[in-house]
Amino acid sequence: MALRTIRTIGDEILSKKCKEVKEMTPRLKELVDDMFETMYDAEGVGLAAPQVGVLKRIIIVDTGEDPLCLINPMIVETDGEQTGNEGCLSVPGKTGKVTRPNYVKVLGLDRNMAPIEVEATELKARALVHEVEHLDGHLYVERVEGRLMDVEEAEEEAEEEA
Ligand code: NI
Repeated sequence: MALRTIRTIGDEILSKKCKEVKEMTPRLKELVDDMFETMYDAEGVGLAAPQVGVLKRIIIVDTGEDPLCLINPMIVETDGEQTGNEGCLSVPGKTGKVTRPNYVKVLGLDRNMAPIEVEATELKARALVHEVEHLDGHLYVERVEGRLMDVEEAEEEAEEEA
């Protein structure tokens, strides 16, 4: 396993549409392992393959329950709404308010290419929607309500509100 370089905003690969994965290969298995290592190292809760420079429809999410890898993910159901601060490893040091569904159902394949269905709420639902959007070349900053803030600034604001 190895750490991969996380591409940051302004890198044109982040605005490209990713291709479906047709078969699992040793190379893609290694990519998934590397994505987990890279995400944990950067203390993120999700990562999409284009963020490490690979234009394939692969995402990983770990919000503290189980590590989840989804190949060719498709959001098939959403419900409710949540508004909160979001961040992205490709937009370091920044955060902004984004409204997302509070529940999602996602279909896809696991790392052995077996079909899986994932239902999630709250942070996990937010992370899944965020990562799936990366696969179509979108970053959360396009959806921010108000302005993008520095993380420290957002923390100060939260303290003042409390
Ligand atoms: Ni992101």
